[in-house]
Amino acid sequence: MRQIIIFDTTLRDGEQSPGASMNFSEKMEVATALDELGIDVIEAGFPIASPGDFEAVAEVAKIVKNASVCGLARCVDKDIDAAVEALKQARKPRIHIFLATSPIHRRYKLKMSEDEVVARAVEGVRRSRNYCDDIEFSCEDACRTEYGFLRRVVEAVIDAGASTVNIPDTVGYTTPPEMFARIDMLKKHVPNIDKAVISVHCHNDLGMATANSLAAVTAGAGQIECTINALGERAGNCSLEEVAMALKVRADVFKTQTNIVTRRLYPMSRLVATVTGLRVPQNKPIVGRNAFAHESGIHQDGVLKEPTTYEIMRPEDIGLPKNNLVLGKHSGRAAIVDRVKTLGFDLTADQVDLLFEEFKKLADRKKEVFDGDLRALLQQRIHEQKTQPQTVARDWTLVDYDLRVRSGKDAQVHITIRRGEEVLTGSNDGGDGPIDSMFTAIRTLTKFDIALKEMDIKSATDGEDALAEVTILLNRGESLYRGIGVSTDTFEATAIAILNAVNRIGDA
Ligand code: KIV
Ligand code: ZN
Repeated sequence: MRQIIIFDTTLRDGEQSPGASMNFSEKMEVATALDELGIDVIEAGFPIASPGDFEAVAEVAKIVKNASVCGLARCVDKDIDAAVEALKQARKPRIHIFLATSPIHRRYKLKMSEDEVVARAVEGVRRSRNYCDDIEFSCEDACRTEYGFLRRVVEAVIDAGASTVNIPDTVGYTTPPEMFARIDMLKKHVPNIDKAVISVHCHNDLGMATANSLAAVTAGAGQIECTINALGERAGNCSLEEVAMALKVRADVFKTQTNIVTRRLYPMSRLVATVTGLRVPQNKPIVGRNAFAHESGIHQDGVLKEPTTYEIMRPEDIGLPKNNLVLGKHSGRAAIVDRVKTLGFDLTADQVDLLFEEFKKLADRKKEVFDGDLRALLQQRIHEQKTQPQTVARDWTLVDYDLRVRSGKDAQVHITIRRGEEVLTGSNDGGDGPIDSMFTAIRTLTKFDIALKEMDIKSATDGEDALAEVTILLNRGESLYRGIGVSTDTFEATAIAILNAVNRIGDA
């Protein structure tokens, strides 16, 4: 079995998904979970992009125990130096430099000749090699680059010391047979190709990112770059959970293996969905809500008789809890702790206390508490506390609200919020509906110049008494802030979500 290196770029390319930005502590939480998932290389960010990115890469470099930690740099001295500095404390640092190679990028973006591109690429690799042995070079837009020129660049950067050469499909344009042919061509015609690992980094604009990555593996690529939940620029990147499971389930075809601990895939996906606020589509392969649900009677009958009739992988292989245990107000702390572990969350004693308190309140409002309810509670309450312990005292929380809605009339709200000892009450009676009224009242009280950009409401489980999960995306100037609110009362969840997003303004 050939070993395939899994390179995760959730914290870099994934974070480039519109609205997916993560705060510092969320990035640390994701990095730790990626390390436990068995990722080989974690791309932690683009250190030159901002001081926040630099700090995040430096901290990930410090805390990650097993994986290599990688920082991205353009092929320019100041980027490379920033990456070197940020990775100083990494146990296994990798510098990832990129330069576009396609004719369209050379002509319109770089305004550089072929010779200039080769010279700059070689210079970048040599400079990086002065600091670090593990250098990855990416030929940006490689899949629209002429074969001859791509061969020339790849050979030159390997000669200069690159140990990984990445062939990105930057614009998600290529097809599986083309990807196979391109990798095969490099394997056969670049004389020093055996001195480097060939990597692929596929975007999903035409929905072929996973298929293209797997075609590259078949042709001999040794590294796949991907993200959790397929996050990434535009339509996203290749999905990590899809390639990991495809390589495992069809090991008979690919004859490869990875270090991914697949039973951590589902909890990892939930964590990333929570911190980014970008929900996983229900029919998403592997980690979507419907991925293991059987609707048709024929399928249900088959699965009951023998799961393999309609299931090509077991739910437990990806860490999906086997049964949806029902808890209620008589359930004890031990049952909650046990269930939370099964759902993939690792809580401290303080967090268990907080969750248990929330659970009891919920069990009073709702007869049966399902896994979906627990997960929603964990995601909002525990996650807030876990990722921002130092900021909790200065966070706004909802005390109560009174809302009046009548058809054809403006909505009226009276709301009280608290921050530490400070308690503020305000009203709005000119709202174009209840959400407008609530949002305006909170904006006036918190004095932030914010606008509501997007809002999404979902029920955590089935049933009329289900918890509502509300996700809010608001903007303040150029910046976007996401907040999550959970309650059996949809308007209360909305107010919590708005305050949650407002509280993030200070963390950004
Ligand atoms: O899509 C792309 O080409 C990239 C490179 C920086 C690897 O993200
Ligand atoms: Zn990319």
